[in-house]
Amino acid sequence: MNATTTPLAAEPLPFDDYRHAPDAQLEARIEAVKREMGRSLLILGHHYQQDEVIRFADLRGDSLKLSQLAAADRDCRAIVFCGVHFMAETADILSREDVTVHLPDMTAGCSMADMADLDSVEAAWSDLAEVIDVSDVTPVTYINSTAELKAFCGRHGGIVCTSSNARKVLDWAFARRRRALFFPDQHLGRNTARSMGIPLEEMIVWDPRRDMGGNSTRAIEDSRVILWRGHCSVHQMFKPAHVAQFRERHPGIQILVHPECSMPVVEASDLVGSTEFILKTIAEAPAGSEWAVGTELHLVNRLAKEHPDKKVHFLSPMVCMCSTMYRIDLPHLAWCLENLARGTPVNRVQVPDDVKASARESLRRMLELG
Ligand code: 13P
Ligand code: SF4
Repeated sequence: MNATTTPLAAEPLPFDDYRHAPDAQLEARIEAVKREMGRSLLILGHHYQQDEVIRFADLRGDSLKLSQLAAADRDCRAIVFCGVHFMAETADILSREDVTVHLPDMTAGCSMADMADLDSVEAAWSDLAEVIDVSDVTPVTYINSTAELKAFCGRHGGIVCTSSNARKVLDWAFARRRRALFFPDQHLGRNTARSMGIPLEEMIVWDPRRDMGGNSTRAIEDSRVILWRGHCSVHQMFKPAHVAQFRERHPGIQILVHPECSMPVVEASDLVGSTEFILKTIAEAPAGSEWAVGTELHLVNRLAKEHPDKKVHFLSPMVCMCSTMYRIDLPHLAWCLENLARGTPVNRVQVPDDVKASARESLRRMLELG
């Protein structure tokens, strides 16, 4: 595992002070640090975060919005990220030099981000170079990836995308070069390329464990989109059969899913979009409308609670939650904040300077698209 992927070891949480403290006490301690640190502290929260944590976030958003917020803040000295490791890395890359970024639990990683590492992407790049001209390939990394992969894109004329802007980013990429290598999420890549009218025959899947990604020379030559064989373990649990069941049992229901779902699920749905899009769609839907939503459980439960005038269902009969995001809990948040206030910061996420410079380049290209 390289230097900037999700660390396996975390600084230990002192059990007596935090793990065994009652919630009400932890909440009061968190509030106290927020009051004491004022605007020098910025708590960012991703929409998948559990309620007990997200309520302390100064700002909430999807991956795109949170990276824009980290880049825009002019007052804070420390960002505490209630999200997962790649989000904290992105905040470290985009925030001012004098801002430190902290992740309350360093084991809050992303299983999808862990499916592509720098060594295997570099190996794929040189394998591809044996068959096609890679100066005609744009590497596109989903923001759910390590800083090192963002840096790889920065060095090779590539770009980052999020689930909100993947279409805009691929348009940008195809305006410059003939092909795109898209990692780590094959589903976001495939769903986006399909929405642009690129036929499936011009897409191949690159399996990093197989020779030439498991592709023939001919298939590589004919491809326009090379999709990394990665996925989200949460969103892969939604199936077309769940969509069919809801349609049968709830006539008139609308199905709204995240683009990390597989293509058959997306094609069976009415609407597809990022977490921010999902939030906005439900907020603006007429009272009495009925929805089945295919994304992380905490967000869907919160939407159902916040919109009692609409019927909001969870699309899968299984519990699909982001178990790594869930590691950020009250004890870890209180511990991280109290140490910051005491001047003994813990769990700092710090991207090495050389990686940062190239990663910033690929993020900058994305942010300039608006
Ligand atoms: P958003 O881009 O919608 O925030 O999604 C991030 C993510 O990790 C979804 O699984
Ligand atoms: Fe990663 Fe999936 Fe969790 Fe999103 S929901 S952070 S892609 S594991």
